[in-house]
Amino acid sequence: MASKLMVALALGLIAGVGTAYMTLNVPDPAAPQTKAVAGKPAIGGPFSLVDTAGERRTEQNFAGKPMLVFFGFTNCPDVCPSGLQTLTVALNELGEKANSISTLFITLDPERDTAAALGQYVKSFHPSIQGLTGTPDEIQAAIKAYRVYAVKVPDEKDPTRYNIDHSSFFYLMNSKGEFMKHFPHSTDANVLAKAIADAL
Ligand code: NI
Repeated sequence: MASKLMVALALGLIAGVGTAYMTLNVPDPAAPQTKAVAGKPAIGGPFSLVDTAGERRTEQNFAGKPMLVFFGFTNCPDVCPSGLQTLTVALNELGEKANSISTLFITLDPERDTAAALGQYVKSFHPSIQGLTGTPDEIQAAIKAYRVYAVKVPDEKDPTRYNIDHSSFFYLMNSKGEFMKHFPHSTDANVLAKAIADAL
C-alpha cells in the first residue's frame, strides 16, 4: 500500500516536473518558426538535420507518415537508453506496422554525437529508429521547435566531461507533421504501441 502510494507520488512528481518544463520553456513569441494551431500547442515544425549516413534530412523527407520524435544523447546514462528500449519494445509489438511510422532520435549533443557515433548507438535499438544530428545551430532550432528543455551540466569530478539535463518526451506527430500527443519516456510500451497504432 505504502509503496504503491510512493510510486504514485513519484510518477506524479515526474509528470509535474515534465509539465513545468513544458510550460516554462515557452518559445519567444517573436520566433517565426512557431505558429499556433487552434487548440493545439505549437510543437514541431520545420527542421534541417543530418542522418547517420551523413545525408541531409528535413521534415519534408518524413511527410506522409506519422512521426514519433524523441530527443536525447548517446552518453545519457539512463533516461535515453530506457526510453529507446521502451520504444523498441513498442515497435516490436507493432511488427510490420512499425514501418508505417518514422521514429526519429534527435541528439541534444551535436558536439559528441557525430553521424557515425549516433549510427553506432541507434544500432542497439529497433532498426527503424533513425538518428539525426546537425550543427549546434540546427539542433538548437529543432530543440526550440519541439520546446525541449536541455541544459549542459559540467561533471563535478571531471571538468572535461559534461552531462545534459533534459526533458524526455516522445512526440507523436500526424502525417502532416502536426503535433498530436506527447508521452513521458517512462510510458508503458503497450500504451505507446497502441497510441502509434491508433495514429496510423
Ligand atoms: Ni537522456
